Amino acid sequence: MSALLIGGTGTTGRPLSRLLPDATVASRNPGPGQVRFDWAEPSTFAPALDGVRAVYLVPPPAELEPMRFAAPFFAAARAAGVRRVVLLGSLIVLPDAPGVAELVAAVRSMPEPVVLRPSGFMQNLLGDHPLAVGLRERGELVSAAGDGKLGWIDAADIAAVAARALTDPAVSGEHLLTGPEALSYGEVAEVLAEVTGRPVRHRPVRTSERREVFRAAGMPEPFATALAAVDRGIRNGEEDLVSGAVAELTGRAPRSLREFALAHSGTLV
Ligand SMILES: NC(=O)c1ccc[n+]([C@@H]2O[C@H](COP(=O)([O-])OP(=O)(O)OC[C@H]3O[C@@H](n4cnc5c(N)ncnc54)[C@H](OP(=O)(O)O)[C@@H]3O)[C@@H](O)[C@H]2O)c1
Repeated sequence: MSALLIGGTGTTGRPLSRLLPDATVASRNPGPGQVRFDWAEPSTFAPALDGVRAVYLVPPPAELEPMRFAAPFFAAARAAGVRRVVLLGSLIVLPDAPGVAELVAAVRSMPEPVVLRPSGFMQNLLGDHPLAVGLRERGELVSAAGDGKLGWIDAADIAAVAARALTDPAVSGEHLLTGPEALSYGEVAEVLAEVTGRPVRHRPVRTSERREVFRAAGMPEPFATALAAVDRGIRNGEEDLVSGAVAELTGRAPRSLREFALAHSGTLV
């Protein structure tokens, strides 16, 4: 089945493209063998969808009204004969963001919809993510999540589930994806300190401070506000769950935070 990977150069898309080497990676700046795709340029949709039957869909980034961009995409996908759409959604439902639910409904209107709903990515501890910057620069994890727990997941495990969902017609519906355990930010700090041998602490802040951190990192105001409110949900226990979906859909247990930290210990702090 010919597949198009939107977001195929990103956190989950890159490992997914390695698992499905015959799939086509979509990018605003395509490299060799990739196809040009930009949510802001609907003229790129039809050429990218030519001959495609399955799409991995990472939504337009930092957008509370994704259907502004995605509505013409679904029209183009239907016209191209796309059947399967595998959406990278989110376990937590963003507060005050009905536009995100509209995107999920549009995916469900396709002939073979699959909605993946992962918990927080372990990759938030790496690279340019605000969490990672505070970790590297000050040895602190800043959150407004208090002692609330979340089921941290490695993006590689999401990619493994997505690879199965794109290629196995028997996979359908909605899947909550987590790692093997739910951990608070304080517990994550303990694991990171133990693995790296460097001091790491959790610095709890108010939701408003968290929003300012996201804004300073360049996120649009409404999205920064919604993302900061996610911490409130975590604090209230909304993400405190562990699902067996990764093992069920890939045949192997998801990676633990300790294993992830050991694999990335050189770049974490
Ligand atoms: N981080 C978490 O903890 C978490 C948890 C649950 C769900 N999620 C969801 O995961 C998704 C991905 O998050 P992420 O931060 O890891 O991002 P990411 O996958 O690294 O996203 C960047 C990708 O989006 C593509 N992209 C950016 N702007 C684009 C545009 N205008 N048109 C087409 N493609 C564009 C980029 O491709 P090019 O640059 O090559 O064009 C790149 O492949 C989000 O929807 C988020 O809600 C995240």
